[in-house]
Amino acid sequence: MEYRNLGKSGLKISEFSFGSWVTFVNQLNEKEAMRCMEIAYERGVNFFDNAEAYASGASEVLMGKILKKLNWSRDSYIVSSKVFWGGDLPTQKGLSKKHVHDACNNALKRLQVDYLDLFFCHRPDPETPIIETVFAMNDLLSQGKIMYWGTSEWSAKEIKTAFKCASKYKLRGPSMEQPQYNLLHRDRFENEYDEIFKKYKIGSTIWSPLASGLLTGKYNNGVPSSSRFKVKGYEWLADSMDGINFDLIGKINSLAKEIGLLPSQFAILWCLMNQNVSTVILGASSSTQLKENLCAIDLKDALTLDVTDKLNNIIREGIKK
Ligand SMILES: NC(=O)c1ccc[n+]([C@@H]2O[C@H](COP(=O)([O-])OP(=O)(O)OC[C@H]3O[C@@H](n4cnc5c(N)ncnc54)[C@H](OP(=O)(O)O)[C@@H]3O)[C@@H](O)[C@H]2O)c1
Repeated sequence: MEYRNLGKSGLKISEFSFGSWVTFVNQLNEKEAMRCMEIAYERGVNFFDNAEAYASGASEVLMGKILKKLNWSRDSYIVSSKVFWGGDLPTQKGLSKKHVHDACNNALKRLQVDYLDLFFCHRPDPETPIIETVFAMNDLLSQGKIMYWGTSEWSAKEIKTAFKCASKYKLRGPSMEQPQYNLLHRDRFENEYDEIFKKYKIGSTIWSPLASGLLTGKYNNGVPSSSRFKVKGYEWLADSMDGINFDLIGKINSLAKEIGLLPSQFAILWCLMNQNVSTVILGASSSTQLKENLCAIDLKDALTLDVTDKLNNIIREGIKK
């Protein structure tokens, strides 16, 4: 495993990390989730991603229990939470100073840690002035409850506003963004954020490198019977199949096989080739999937310039059709 700086910060984050969305509690019980975390850590993964919204807090409770059992030294791993969707009451959601503080304190309890390394605003909140959230995050930084704060799926304009507010009051702006980035979802990361990466040098912890599994090719002939698209409460994910070019996915999958990679490994490694990516957050509903994905780290050299040229041609042709 190699480690990248999280943007311009000094934090060294593993190129692959492991997240718990959908899987923890819904698909992985304690024993299986613990096995996955152990496998990831043994392979050098040092970042574990979570959020107050995942399984309505139960994902953080489970990860906290596992961290306690594994008893890894606290200085050897990075753990995150995210604030936005905390509950149904008006005070339990959004990015008000109150909810940012409550969400952080609740995450610390659930994860059984003294501080969060990364704390994200899970979405922008049009009903809270950005300056209020910037101040709330800086309070948490000075209280030592979080090490770095960041955004997730904020527009470039909103991120710029956060930096302007921070600069005006000599506060710290966001250190990282958590956007979706994969072969099917590139525009925001590669175009809209271009100026943000250049100007502010923030890091990125990118999500859904496999587009929820679509890039593995296993949806090319319909939804498989054991799939997150069938997990209760996540049926809406099937909407992401609308407009998907399965012919293009099939061709990308063939290219992967031609160079001796599994389609999943190819898609994950492709994300890592972008130097604005600090870490690729892997998701897995079994230890077999996780092992397969982690193996990609040893196969980086397979994505040569010749292969990326071929890929770009496939994509260009696929878009033309
Ligand atoms: N900030 C945000 O808004 C946000 C949003 C989403 C995710 N995230 C973070 O990013 C992490 C990763 O996102 P993601 O889970 O969507 O990642 P992903 O890699 O796009 O999807 C992971 C899913 O793909 C399937 N899969 C994985 N490896 C496979 C393999 N080798 N072969 C076949 N199928 C495979 C599994 O689903 P099946 O169960 O269907 O097999 C697995 O749970 C999350 O855990 C979370 O921490 C953040």
